[in-house]
Amino acid sequence: MEQHRKRLNDLRAQAQLGGGEKRIAAQHAKGKLTARERIDLLMDPGSFEELGMLVKHRSTNFGLEKQQFLGDGVVTGFGQVNGRLVYVFSQDFTVLGGSLAEAHAAKICRIMDLAMQNGAPLIGLNDSGGARIQEGVSSLGGYADIFFRNVRASGVIPQLSAILGPCAGGAVYSPALTDFIFMAEGTSYMFVTGPNVVKTVTHEEVSSEDLGGAKTHAMKSGVTHFTAPNEAAVIQHLKTVLGYLPQNCEDEPSVLAYESGNEERPALDSIVPESALQPYDIRGAIQEVCDADSFTEVQKDFAENMVCGFARLAGRSIGVVANQPAFLAGVLDIKASTKAARFVRTCDAFNVPLLVFEDVPGFLPGTDQEWNGIITNGAKLLYAFSEATVPRITVITRKAYGGAYDVMNSQHIGADLVYAWPTAEIAVMGAKGAAEIIFKREIANADDPKAVWEEKEKEYAELFAHPYNAAARGYVDEVILPRNTRAKLISAFEMLKNKVDKLPRKKHGNLPL
Ligand code: HXC
Repeated sequence: MEQHRKRLNDLRAQAQLGGGEKRIAAQHAKGKLTARERIDLLMDPGSFEELGMLVKHRSTNFGLEKQQFLGDGVVTGFGQVNGRLVYVFSQDFTVLGGSLAEAHAAKICRIMDLAMQNGAPLIGLNDSGGARIQEGVSSLGGYADIFFRNVRASGVIPQLSAILGPCAGGAVYSPALTDFIFMAEGTSYMFVTGPNVVKTVTHEEVSSEDLGGAKTHAMKSGVTHFTAPNEAAVIQHLKTVLGYLPQNCEDEPSVLAYESGNEERPALDSIVPESALQPYDIRGAIQEVCDADSFTEVQKDFAENMVCGFARLAGRSIGVVANQPAFLAGVLDIKASTKAARFVRTCDAFNVPLLVFEDVPGFLPGTDQEWNGIITNGAKLLYAFSEATVPRITVITRKAYGGAYDVMNSQHIGADLVYAWPTAEIAVMGAKGAAEIIFKREIANADDPKAVWEEKEKEYAELFAHPYNAAARGYVDEVILPRNTRAKLISAFEMLKNKVDKLPRKKHGNLPL
């Protein structure tokens, strides 16, 4: 047996080394961790069980038979994160640049299949030069095998992708099909084609960082949902986000122990400024209403006129969607609509109830928006809310104008409860614009047009710039004092916790893409 033990130990030691000491040192020199060091940071100590450690590729192209590394550039297995079963793959850049080919892909597919069979989240730690060029079409096939599984698993188990190095070519599409992408600042890149190809094809000169770094994808493309300054922080954040999600779509998110106390929050009374023209940061309201320090924002630097994120309310996991009056007055545009639509669908897929804060002047007008499809993209948000079957509650803090009133989780599209603060203004549009349209002739013919306009504006505001017409029709269930919002929401979500709502039988809906 001693002989057998030695052989096994030698093989294990060889596998642990990946591409070898030199390449590990190079990885460290770039400020990056190895595939195994990342797994150690992610998993509960001693819980990781590796599968396929001794797998090797079978390619003989371009002398590849002389470049054999046990595990073929990816560490796969299962274990626990904060006591919960998860499946993980971690690509090893020290082995052929983490490139993906037949055996590497087969290992990933195997744990994806196990994750699906056993209803547990899949976590991908990506660091790859894309399709292994030497293996040709086997590499492309391997990617497609993974994409197919990503799609089949979508909405069944949470899939979380950390990007911890260059992810080029096919390496970006698997993460794009998962629920959340996390990127490390300064060391991770995502692009379909790198700077050299870009230069050849479009003659643009661009650095990797500008083309596909964490900041670019956080601020410009919205491809990444989270960024963090280093790999350890990325992995920690991934664990935090996982904490809001259940194991699978049949499961409920965990509810943390919570001791109820005085739920009144007087600070909320002064969140909305006296003047309707003055902006304020809706995050202040979210933080007051939700459990202390529980709010984790998603796509924080993208479409800042819409704030989305996970939080806890009396220990319960919720998804918060809020117009942000402090940025572009909280207007609904293409980016904000798609950002919120995606988040609403993610929450709904994983049984996370939705809380909406509404202060929106309407959809953004203009040729840019119209020509880029605000109609189709705005419809995504309408679709996402209308389709969601989780408990959902809206709090109208100030403006709920026009189509945006309908879209932002109104009762008409299935909100379970709608609350309004006394500062709410629920109308077709703002008083100034409304007066200009309705009293166009009177204003034009008046001796003092400005005075008439102001008078009509006041008249319209008195009639409509409040929540009481909507409350009289029952469109608003209750007008509440801001300070009581938290207490109201705690008991409302408790009341809705056994909600049953089913969509009509269909193959699948036809979301306007
Ligand atoms: C095989 C690869 C590789 C690849 C990197 N390596 N990418 N081997 N196939 N795709 C190897 C290198 O030869 C090198 O081997 C080692 O990994 C480290 O690479 P470096 O270039 O030294 O590292 P770095 O300077 O950090 O640059 C990383 C990189 C660059 C940006 C990823 O290597 C690169 O541009 N690679 C090619 C990216 C690409 O075009 N991939 C194919 C995309 S097509 P040694 O032995 O020297 O350590 C694709 C199609 C799928 O993916 C489409 C599906 C939809």
